[in-house]
Amino acid sequence: MTDTYRPKPLNSQTKFDNAEVGAGSFIEPDVTVGFRCHEDCGPAQLGKHCMLRKGTIIYGDVMIGDYFQSCHYAVIRAKVQMGNYCNVMNHSTLEGLIRMGDGVRIMSHVYVSSRTWFGNHVFVGPGVTFLNDRYPGRIESDSSPMGATIEDHVMIGGGATVLPGITIGRQSFIAAGALVNRDVPAKSLVVGVPGCITPLPSKLNKSNAKPLTVQPIDIWHPGGDDASHLEWPEHWLQR
Ligand SMILES: CC(C)(COP(=O)(O)OP(=O)(O)OC[C@H]1O[C@@H](n2cnc3c(N)ncnc32)[C@H](O)[C@@H]1OP(=O)(O)O)[C@@H](O)C(=O)NCCC(=O)NCCS
Repeated sequence: MTDTYRPKPLNSQTKFDNAEVGAGSFIEPDVTVGFRCHEDCGPAQLGKHCMLRKGTIIYGDVMIGDYFQSCHYAVIRAKVQMGNYCNVMNHSTLEGLIRMGDGVRIMSHVYVSSRTWFGNHVFVGPGVTFLNDRYPGRIESDSSPMGATIEDHVMIGGGATVLPGITIGRQSFIAAGALVNRDVPAKSLVVGVPGCITPLPSKLNKSNAKPLTVQPIDIWHPGGDDASHLEWPEHWLQR
């Protein structure tokens, strides 16, 4: 039996070639921060207590707040800006101009196109796709591609697809596999392909639980003392 892998936190503000990462952060081997995608690329800036897992690539010009966590092979390209407590899981890709508030949790294998905007405490399930070009390669357009706007406390279920320029209103709940092809009013449920929009049923009519969107530490590889409260649910142990 081997010891649990516990990376050592950086104990002070650390300067990289083209990045600044705040004190108390964990950075595993094979992580790239501040990747220069062009000559004039500025530095990547990350706040305190971040955790970057092996394989993460963060470009220069990215700005991320405190308590950020990336999992393996997450790719975050230039101009992305995030608040505090954001989380990007395995093999997800964030392209270009993206804005996120606090507590945005992106699960694995998610694609976020440029010009997508997120509010606070948004949960994005695995395999979700956000698109930004309605007629790629077929119709010339003077305007730039436009991604979706996702308001506060939205939950987007696994495998959903969100078409360009759509707004999903506050607290809405998108079912697994749904195709969101028109604007969604606040507090709506969207189910199916194309998505059928109805008011939220009472059981789902609430904000996202903050322990889900603002996780104190990576549950798969706890590396610090503050993970002590993370325990398996009792009924799992009984299996
Ligand atoms: C939409 C959702 C909330 C419905 O849950 P529910 O209220 O318990 O609904 P039920 O399972 O009782 O299903 C009710 C009906 O909707 C259908 N249904 C359920 N989920 C559906 C979905 N995602 N897409 C299409 N139809 C769905 C069921 O087949 C059932 O149809 P029927 O009445 O013809 O038999 C849930 O299925 C869902 O998609 N949750 C998101 C899960 C997810 O993506 N999590 C991400 C983190 S892992």
